[in-house]
Amino acid sequence: MKSKYIYVIVCFNILTVICQNILHHPCSFLPRCRCRLEHHKNGVEVDCSHVQLKVIPSVPSYVIKLILKHNLIDDIPNGVFSNNTILTELDLSDNRIHTLTEMSFNGLQNLLKLNLQNNDLSKGNYSFGAKTFSHLKNLKYLNLKNNFAKHYQPDLSKLVSIESLHIDFISNGFHFLSKQYGNLHKLAILDLSGSTGKCFLPILTNDSFQYISHVQHLDISTCKIQQINQGALTMLKNITYLDVSNNTCLKFEGLENITSDLQFSNIKILKVNNLHKISDLTTVLKTSHIKDLHNTSLQYAFADGNRLQTIEKTAISYLPKSLKFVSLRGNPLKFGLYIFEVVLLVNLETADVSDLFRHQTDLHPEKCISDSIYTCKGDSVIAPRYMDPSDVTYLNAFDESNERDTPDFLSPATVPIPINLKHVNYSSGSLRMDVPKLKLSGNKLETIDFSNNILYALNGPIYNVKNVKVLNVSTNFCSNISKFFFSSDFKNLEHLNFHNNLLGIVLPDDNEGKILNNLESLIELVLSKNRIPNLPENVFKSQRNLQKLDLSENMFTDITFRVSHMTHLKELDLRGNRITIISDPFTSQFDSLATKHNFSVDLNKNLLECNCISIKFIEWMTTTNVRLKNIKKYKCMLWNRTNVALHSPKETYNLLRKHCASYENLELALVLGVLLFIILIMGSLMYRYRWKLRYLYYIVKVKYSSLHSETEEEYSYMYGAFVSYADEDRIFVHNTLLQKLEVENGIQLCLHKRNFLPGNDIATNITSAIHNSRRTLVIMSHNFLKSYWCMFEYNMARMESIYERRNENVVFLMFYEQMSPRDLPLNVLEMIQSKSYIEYPNDEYGDTVFWDQLVNALK
Ligand SMILES: *[C@@H]1O[C@H](CO)[C@@H](O)[C@H](O)[C@H]1NC(C)=O
Ligand SMILES: *[C@@H]1O[C@H](CO)[C@@H](O)[C@H](O)[C@H]1NC(C)=O
Ligand SMILES: *[C@@H]1O[C@H](CO)[C@@H](O)[C@H](O)[C@H]1NC(C)=O
Ligand SMILES: *[C@@H]1O[C@H](CO)[C@@H](O)[C@H](O)[C@H]1NC(C)=O
Ligand SMILES: *[C@@H]1O[C@H](CO)[C@@H](O)[C@H](O)[C@H]1NC(C)=O
Ligand SMILES: *[C@@H]1O[C@H](CO)[C@@H](O)[C@H](O)[C@H]1NC(C)=O
Ligand SMILES: *[C@@H]1O[C@H](CO)[C@@H](O)[C@H](O)[C@H]1NC(C)=O
Ligand SMILES: *[C@@H]1O[C@H](CO)[C@@H](O)[C@H](O)[C@H]1NC(C)=O
Repeated sequence: MKSKYIYVIVCFNILTVICQNILHHPCSFLPRCRCRLEHHKNGVEVDCSHVQLKVIPSVPSYVIKLILKHNLIDDIPNGVFSNNTILTELDLSDNRIHTLTEMSFNGLQNLLKLNLQNNDLSKGNYSFGAKTFSHLKNLKYLNLKNNFAKHYQPDLSKLVSIESLHIDFISNGFHFLSKQYGNLHKLAILDLSGSTGKCFLPILTNDSFQYISHVQHLDISTCKIQQINQGALTMLKNITYLDVSNNTCLKFEGLENITSDLQFSNIKILKVNNLHKISDLTTVLKTSHIKDLHNTSLQYAFADGNRLQTIEKTAISYLPKSLKFVSLRGNPLKFGLYIFEVVLLVNLETADVSDLFRHQTDLHPEKCISDSIYTCKGDSVIAPRYMDPSDVTYLNAFDESNERDTPDFLSPATVPIPINLKHVNYSSGSLRMDVPKLKLSGNKLETIDFSNNILYALNGPIYNVKNVKVLNVSTNFCSNISKFFFSSDFKNLEHLNFHNNLLGIVLPDDNEGKILNNLESLIELVLSKNRIPNLPENVFKSQRNLQKLDLSENMFTDITFRVSHMTHLKELDLRGNRITIISDPFTSQFDSLATKHNFSVDLNKNLLECNCISIKFIEWMTTTNVRLKNIKKYKCMLWNRTNVALHSPKETYNLLRKHCASYENLELALVLGVLLFIILIMGSLMYRYRWKLRYLYYIVKVKYSSLHSETEEEYSYMYGAFVSYADEDRIFVHNTLLQKLEVENGIQLCLHKRNFLPGNDIATNITSAIHNSRRTLVIMSHNFLKSYWCMFEYNMARMESIYERRNENVVFLMFYEQMSPRDLPLNVLEMIQSKSYIEYPNDEYGDTVFWDQLVNALK
């Protein structure tokens, strides 16, 4: 009965947990903790981390996982877990627990994982022993790191199921793991690393690991190892993972002992990072250091931070063919002949040779026994062991190539690439060069990271990169890409990163979009921080598949390039530019993209303006389907130069509309005013030059109509003189003048009565007559001045002399009557002052002289 009752309560409690139905929520039994139902495990996980607990709370028996890390717990009361028989995971790390007793873990017979890292077990006189752990029959994972302050190897022999053990190891002269480990048959992972706990293992000998020969995964990084004797690791026949990193006194000589011990092992992953100190001289990896790996099936090798500068010739040929991954980060590698051997690594897929010139200082360098041996012999600096004087011969062989930082000996030839290499990281390599024409050997390269070098110019072309999908050339001071750098072999490139270069110098001139022409598969293009002021319309013409275009932190003031053809474009990043307004054709391009799918534009940190000019743009913001990313942060400058937030474009638009309505009226008034002003000016100008204008008009008309009749060459005047006279004076003209000039002197006269073509309008006839006569004879009289057409003729003749005949005397004035200057208009007076004129005498004598003069003037 009682058990049934408990069962109901348990079910009820589980139900309340379910009903609250939130993934992490306060536990009903412990409000400070978060509970989570694990459906497939049929239990509840309780997370009480970081809540300043001082004592271990008792939790219901249906809890399967209890996390108590980062609290102030200093004790595990006897039997506190005796109910928690189905608890599988207990995390007590980062507390102050100092004692473990025989009853501490009572009840936890199903516990799989126990974490006691970072506690104070050293305070409790190491009172725990075999009986403490005897309850944990099923424990697979135990972490006791950072607890011991001195040599102590607790009796773990009762942990018969243990697979993964993480523990401190401080040697007191006995540099071996105790015999009891021999009983932990399932132990596969042994982590003694000093980077997460305490480890002091100055010497490893052939008996150090004799009882853990079955371990597959051994971490002895940061263990202050000074010496690894040959044979120390030979016991570990089944080892697949070995981490000896961060033992800076070992040097590559220690590596030689390690690889020699591993030659018959199952090693797959070997980490030998930081076997040298940062302050060490540069090193050479010799054949002897690694030759014993040749027959292993090593796949992953890490040798970061070893001051490695070059690799002995043939050394690479001893690396196992199984090698898939090599990391040589933070080594000051120089190019050398070894480069040509990398093609031997036929299974290599990833090479990380980034960060070559890492500048760090080690504040607490390890004191090495070897250092004291080698630096105390007198004053001279003694070459360390790894630079044996006997090696000088081969070092010399490398010297030549070592002196160069750039592999220019490669440039005309084929660049050797391991045939299966997919990923290369040469980031931060201080490679300083203009990239020349290069052909890569057969390869499967997919990812190339050359960021953080100094590739001033990409000249190219680069061939044989047909599989490359990702290319990173960010931060390279690159200011020039040739139009053929991206050869058609780049047709599969999907991600191209040019962040932080100087392409603003070359891209704005690429009007035909030639530079990126071959990159048709591009999905993501980063051109941020390139000082680009603008881009030509067609610069991205081939990028139809682009999904993400990052143009942030440039100097754009407007969008001028086409994006409407990028039908997959999802993100356009224009953050941190100088855009004040995006004009209409481009906003509609954006709209057309947004109709197809989710398209966003980021305009944060620009110089947006909210005034009557940009009102259409602001209106667009209120109506568009384009997602304006970060719009909450947009600011824009109002007409009165104040900055306002633009988080609600609608409000701003309404504000603008009100403001601009009055502005529009003002604008209209202004426009009308200006128009009126222009009309006035034009009017007065036209009045001032009325004669010139009329003259030009008619002369054009005349010339046009006479175009077909005569050519300029044989043009001679049709009339000797055109006589301009008032109708009242016609008797004189028709009788006397005609007789004297035409009949007696043969001067062909043009008289409107006689010579004007009927049908043509008068003005055209007049202009034509003036134009076709050598002179225009004006019979000046009071009647002449009164006649509209006479004055028209006079003015036209004046214009003809000024504009058509270069001030030649065309007009000849004859005063038929006595006229006082007061009667004459200004333009006639002007003529009298500057040109000759003649008065009609009205007496016999004068008559003869008069006619002679007149005939002379007209001939
Ligand atoms: C390497 O060892 C030093 C001290 O010897 C330590 O401070 C550092 O954290 C270790 N680095 C790693 C990656 O374990
Ligand atoms: C360790 O090597 C010594 C000799 O160098 C040898 O006598 C001893 O038996 C070896 N121990 C083991 C466990 O192989
Ligand atoms: C190594 O592993 C194999 C099978 O994986 C096993 O038969 C052998 O006993 C193991 N050797 C040691 C020393 O544990
Ligand atoms: C390598 O092993 C030999 C022989 O056991 C030993 O004398 C030498 O000190 C070891 N070297 C290092 C660097 O541990
Ligand atoms: C690798 O094994 C072959 C035979 O299996 C042997 O001839 C060769 O010497 C070994 N190489 C090394 C470096 O141990
Ligand atoms: C290359 O290495 C650098 C640092 O050394 C790292 O930041 C970068 O992510 C790596 N690149 C790739 C593609 O893994
Ligand atoms: C870029 O390089 C080409 C030759 O590859 C050269 O003709 C051009 O002048 C360079 N442009 C700039 C801006 O340096
Ligand atoms: C559009 O994409 C963004 C992420 O880029 C996402 O947060 C948003 O929910 C998407 N909207 C729609 C309607 O798919």
